[in-house]
Order: sequence, then C-alpha cells, then structure tokens
Amino acid sequence: MNQTITPCIATQKLLSGTLRVPSDRSITVRAAMLGSIANGTSRIREPLDCDDTHAALKCMADLGVMTAPLSSMCDPLGLQIPGVGLHGLRASSTALDCGSSGTTMRLLAGFLSGQRFASVIDGSDQLRKRPMRRVTEPLKAMGAAIADSEGLPPIRIGSAERPLHAHNYDMPIASAQVKSALLLAGLYAAGPVTIREPAPTRDHTERMLRSVGVDVQTQTHDNGTSDIILTPPNNPLKALDLLVPADFSSAAFFIVAASISPYADVQLVEVGLNPTRLGLFDALLAMGAHIAVTHAHIEGGEPVGDLHVTSSELHQTEIGGQMTARMIDEFPVFAVAATQAVGRTVVRDAQELRVKESNRLEGLVNELRKLGAKIEPTEDGFVIDGPTRLKGTLVDSLADHRVAMALAVAGLVADGQTIIAGAECVAKTYPGFWKDLASLM
Ligand code: S3P
Repeated sequence: MNQTITPCIATQKLLSGTLRVPSDRSITVRAAMLGSIANGTSRIREPLDCDDTHAALKCMADLGVMTAPLSSMCDPLGLQIPGVGLHGLRASSTALDCGSSGTTMRLLAGFLSGQRFASVIDGSDQLRKRPMRRVTEPLKAMGAAIADSEGLPPIRIGSAERPLHAHNYDMPIASAQVKSALLLAGLYAAGPVTIREPAPTRDHTERMLRSVGVDVQTQTHDNGTSDIILTPPNNPLKALDLLVPADFSSAAFFIVAASISPYADVQLVEVGLNPTRLGLFDALLAMGAHIAVTHAHIEGGEPVGDLHVTSSELHQTEIGGQMTARMIDEFPVFAVAATQAVGRTVVRDAQELRVKESNRLEGLVNELRKLGAKIEPTEDGFVIDGPTRLKGTLVDSLADHRVAMALAVAGLVADGQTIIAGAECVAKTYPGFWKDLASLM
C-alpha cells in the first residue's frame, strides 16, 4: 500500500484538533503477560489493538490462557484475562508466533525460561533478523536451558527442572526488553535477581510487577546507572486493574508534526508521560518547541497527562549518552524535526538504531536524503544541518512502522506530494494512523 501525503502549506490547511492516540504498546504487552500468571481475572481497559499486541495475546492463549476466543476477551469493560497463576501455564503444541514483535519475543524468552515445560519462540521474517543473544546469554547464566539460532530467532527453551539461579547482571546495553526478560525470569528464581542498567530505560515492567505485589527495588547511582533488584515472590500475583494510557511513542509523530507545521494547534489527550520515555519531549523543549502539559495525574501507577502543542521555530541540539535510551523509539521522527531546526543537530551513541525493525540509521539517511534533507551518517548516529525546505517524492517505509510515520510527518512540511511505499506497516503499533493524521488536516 502506498500513502500520499499532501503538505499542510500547499493545501492552506492547518494542522489542528484533538486526538487520543492508541494505547501504549509496551504496557499492553506486559499486562497480557503478567495478567496471565496472576491469580484471578485481570481487567485491562483501553488495551492497544494492533499487530504486536495480537501476537502477544495469541502467544498467551497458546500457553493455555484465555481459552475463550480472543475476540470475546475485549469488551467495553476492557480486556479480561483469567490468570492461571504463576505455575499454571501449559506447553504450547506449536511454536509460539511473536509476529514482528521483538518485545513479545524477548519478554517471553525470560518468562518461559522458568517454566516446567519446553517452548519454541519464533516470529516473522523481520523478527528473525533481530538479535536475541542479548537475552539468551544472561538467561543461560541464570540456569535456563535456552538456545537461540546463531544469535537469532527461533529460540528454544527446555523445561526448567529446578528454579533458576539468583543472579547479578551488568547489562552491556541499555535495553528495557533485556531488563524485563530477566525480571520475568526472576519470578521463577531461587533468589534475588539484580540487574544494573547503564542508563535508565522504560520501567513499565518494574511498575507493573510492584502493582501485582512483587518486591522490586530500584537504586539509582550518581553516574546515572541503576540497580533493579527483584525478590522472587512467595505469594500469588494479584490481578491487574489497569487503564492503559495513550502511547507517547505514537503521540510523538503529532508532537513533531505540530511543532514544525505553520499555525498548528494540536491537543493529545491521556498520553503516558513516564519520565523514562520522555527523551523526545525534553529534546524538543530544549530546541524551542511549544508543548504544554495539563491534567497531569497518575493512572495505574503511570504518569499521564494531556499535551497541547503549537507551531514553533526549532533550533539545533545534541543528543547522546543516557538520553538516547529515553528516546530510543523516537529517532525517526526526531530526525524529521532536526531537518527543520536551525543549525547542526548531532545524534551520538545511537548504534541500537541499527537493530530495530529496520536499520534505522541507514534507512533514515537514505529516505530523508530523497526528500532533500542534509543528513550525514556517523558510526553511532547522524548529523543533520537545517533548516531545509524538503521536496516531496517517492520514499520507502522499509516495512518499519516508525519510519513510515516519520516520513508522513516529513511529507507535511515538504513541497509537493510525498508518496510513502509500504505504508501499511503502521499496523504494527498504530493501525489508524493515516485516518488520525487526516482528521487533523
Ligand atoms: C521496548 C523497549 C525498547 C523499544 C521497543 C519497546 C519495550 O527496545 O525500542 O520498541 O517495550 O520494552 P530495547 O529494549 O531493545 O531498547
């Protein structure tokens, strides 16, 4: 599917309106897993309905949870998950299919390492290219009988004949998926699991584990590293009752779109504002963006608020170090913002972008150059000189949802029409993106 974006300026339309972007993918996937092993029925209101969360729910169904048809699990009251308890999952008769969801695969790897049955976890061709050793190595060190396929999926996990070992792990890369995999494995360990993370990464797993009654402590050090310590529970996990906030990573496209479009005025409501996710927010404010937060409150253990974004003149910034983990999914749209900012924007320490749904470093350079952006790759990031008047042309999503949506934002400020090939990939996290974008124009 191709999608044509007509620039705001050419149509003399303003980007304006109010949106509740779809719910948070990271929180929905975690709720599907923790709800499954809780005692009692969990209620997840406003779960995200997209390819990735369908994959996660289908895997849990294959593990013996939610025996009713999936379609009946999601009613106006929310997704009801009848938990089977910490030791109630049963072996799947087939390989678990994670689709293209890296989060589902890596978290399941941790979760299934402690089960008394064997599993195979697999996924789409896109997922089969993504690195898995980052989870299988530390899980092996905890005593899991786990093997990847030369570092890639499928992952095979043997039955855990005894509890996993207590473990201290110093994570070489800042990854919330790796941290979460080890925390979920820790539920089945004989003693505490301590994970040191080099930079703060999204902490939804820690928050949700606490809300179901698991003892998880976080100790932050002066140099910004932190230790997360999970003590294996002696009691059953409590069922969840949760309202999933809108996903900041989906709101990010409209935050940038409104910031760089003329006379824009956009409200984004009920957005998850977990500080570990707000790197883009902080970067844009430092660049001169006009973003106001209202109705800030806590919902289900997560900070939430409404965002009011109006047009601004952005100037350059530098991103690196611990900031990259806080905006890891926002670099595609951040790069678009940087093309409209005055001066040279530099991104460092972002090698992880090479192993996302696509090689985002390479892809962003190639696709944004097609639109006329002045972007140069570096070993661990990129340099962008702006502002540039972009020129619409045919660009490629690279089958990467966030690249497709970022290119759409670029198309809004480009002269002429921008055609995005492979635009259907947005369904991974945001099936209604094209409709929502049109509703603001
Ligand atoms: C995620 C963590 C991040 C992020 C991904 C979702 C999560 O991945 O890029 O989209 O839900 O834990 P890494 O852990 O690989 O950084």
